[in-house]
Amino acid sequence: MKVLGIESTCDETAVAVVDGGDILSHKIASQTEIHALYGGVVPEIASREHLKRINVLLQQVLQEAGGIEQIEGIAAAARPGLEGSILVGLTAARTLSYLTGLKLAEIDHLEAHLFAWPFLEQLFPPGLGLVVSGGHTRLVYIKEWGDYEIISDTRDDAAGECFDKVASMLQLKYPGGPEIEKAAREGDRKRFRFPVANLKGSLDFSYSGLKTSVLYKIKYDLKGKLSEKDRRDIAASFQEAAFKPLVNNAISGAKKTDSAWILVCGGVAANSRLREMFQEAAGKEGIKTLFPPLKLCTDNAATVAACGEFYLSRS
Ligand code: KG4
Ligand code: ZN
Repeated sequence: MKVLGIESTCDETAVAVVDGGDILSHKIASQTEIHALYGGVVPEIASREHLKRINVLLQQVLQEAGGIEQIEGIAAAARPGLEGSILVGLTAARTLSYLTGLKLAEIDHLEAHLFAWPFLEQLFPPGLGLVVSGGHTRLVYIKEWGDYEIISDTRDDAAGECFDKVASMLQLKYPGGPEIEKAAREGDRKRFRFPVANLKGSLDFSYSGLKTSVLYKIKYDLKGKLSEKDRRDIAASFQEAAFKPLVNNAISGAKKTDSAWILVCGGVAANSRLREMFQEAAGKEGIKTLFPPLKLCTDNAATVAACGEFYLSRS
């Protein structure tokens, strides 16, 4: 089923047409350079930028996919996210649905992250999903596609949010995740021992302690002066402490639920060190880990469309 997908929950305006596991057209207009000036996403600016871009993207993607006549259903990310931003994509989707008579699926953005799977391989539940992004750090037990149980969440900051805040402490630009990954490549992972959150008796996550610990290291131990080497070593040591709970809790969750696989998605899943740590630790336990291609880790419209296709084809 050919489905048009629209994503506008945060600072990426994205439109795609997918058909099964095939992406017929996909365009993402990122606003990160604008928000980088402010060190993070400014909601009012985000909505206005979506408004400037959405029609152009729709025209380009629909043309590339053979015209609106080819489309059999519409999907838009409707929650959670920035209200004003969501309104732009959702209003475009509702208008198109009204004018064409095509059915509209209003999609949960977190579920859309999980729907990177149709582009990977046939993935049979039960299994475990880890959504690790700028807004969420969540483990879900996937009983069936469409039927989930939330196993754990973050108690404070999301992992990606922590990357963005630590990047700002290291005077790296927004969004911080890719910048920290770059700096960490030549850093010493063992130079600093940052605390690894372990909430006894729970698979929940916590990132505020780690964030404060990095802040104190820079402010007091290093007296606010960072050499290039300090920056690289902090980035590398920070990644280890940030990723250990993700790997440990996901593996414990997989064992607890008898899951043979873990699907890791969301923006932070783009990180190569996280992929390496997962592959190594889960491999030892005989648990398979799956990671989407980089473009489908961060916010995009192909996974929104795939999720829509799932619901629309059953209705
Ligand atoms: O899924 P996403 O695009 O948006 C949300 O739903 O939040 O995730 C964005 C988050 C940002 O915090 C960004 O810093 C982080 O994902 N991120 C990364 C990497 N690429 C993006 N974090 C660590 N390593 C990366 N390579
Ligand atoms: Zn997201």
